[in-house]
Formats: sequence, structure tokens, C-alpha cells
Amino acid sequence: MSRLDSFIRRMQAQRDCLNAAVAAVGDLPGVAFELGLGNGRTYDHMCETMPNREIYVFERQVAAHPMNIPDDDHLVLGDILETLPEAAERFEGEVALAHTDLGTGIKADNEKLAAQVAPLLWRAMASGGVVISGDALPGTGWEPGPRPESVAPERYFVYRKP
Ligand SMILES: C[S@@+](CC[C@H](N)C(=O)[O-])C[C@H]1O[C@@H](n2cnc3c(N)ncnc32)[C@H](O)[C@@H]1O
Repeated sequence: MSRLDSFIRRMQAQRDCLNAAVAAVGDLPGVAFELGLGNGRTYDHMCETMPNREIYVFERQVAAHPMNIPDDDHLVLGDILETLPEAAERFEGEVALAHTDLGTGIKADNEKLAAQVAPLLWRAMASGGVVISGDALPGTGWEPGPRPESVAPERYFVYRKP
């Protein structure tokens, strides 16, 4: 598969998983987390599909489209391993939907970071909340989440906290 095909599939997987997660959490109370603002594409989609939910964005270096930079109250700047522990305590059990896309392009590094992020996200998530992730989130009690048929299991990971 060419890199272009792979990129397109990844974008489609992000959109389809986000749409499925938004539908699955429905009116479940709580905020949303976006881990990794990047260009701001998925954040923009989250804002559009969850207009009534507060969305907190975690990023170590903002380089997004100016239209997609959250206000200061919703932007958590710094390395995720330094910022997420405090956020997990502040929002313990209050996050209805989280998307994590912290990918750097190096698979081993991504997997290592995801393993460190997983227990922190577990603490933050509400019961019934859904996490979608570019990498597997091992070592906790997740159930399978609402996976769209269009998305292969290893392309994007979908979890629900029971
Ligand atoms: C692949 S991009 C996210 C793309 C985004 N989903 C979009 O649609 O534009 C990954 C982002 O995660 C951020 N990131 C990676 N590792 C991080 C870390 N340890 N702490 C905070 N941010 C991190 C990078 O700076 C980068 O902006």
C-alpha cells in the first residue's frame, strides 16, 4: 500500500471512529479530551460533532491551523506525561470521550507512550466513556468499544470503560 493510500485510510479511520464514538456516548455527561492537537483536523471534527461538550486539548508544541487552536482554558500545554496525571485527577471519572493521536511516526516510541498514557486515561474516563486511539492502550480493564465496520482492528483502537 502506498503512503498516500495509508494516509487516506488513517484519516477515514479517525473520522469514522470519532463519529461512532460521538454517537455511542450520546448524552453521557462529561467533557472530552483530545491528546495531540497536531494540525487540528480531528479537534475541528470533535468541535463540529460535539458542539455542546467542553473539549480539553493536550499538546506539547502548538502548530495547528489558527482556526483550530483552543482557548487558554482548554489548552493543556506540555509533555503529556507531565500534564495528564494532574488532568486525570481533576477530571477523574468525568471524561465521556477521548481521542489520542500522539503518534510521532516511530512505532516503538508510540507504543511505549501509549502504555504510559493508558492508566491515566483509565482514571479520567467516565463509566460508559469511549476512547479511540491510534495505538493500543494495554494493561487496563477496557471493553471493546463501538468499532465501525469500515475500520480494521489494527488500524485504530476503540475502547469503552465499563
Ligand atoms: C499525529 S499529530 C496529531 C494530529 C491530529 N490528530 C490532527 O488531526 O491534526 C501528534 C501530535 O501529538 C503531539 N505529541 C506527541 N507526543 C507528545 C507528548 N509526549 N506530549 C504532548 N504532545 C505530544 C505532537 O506534538 C503532535 O502535534
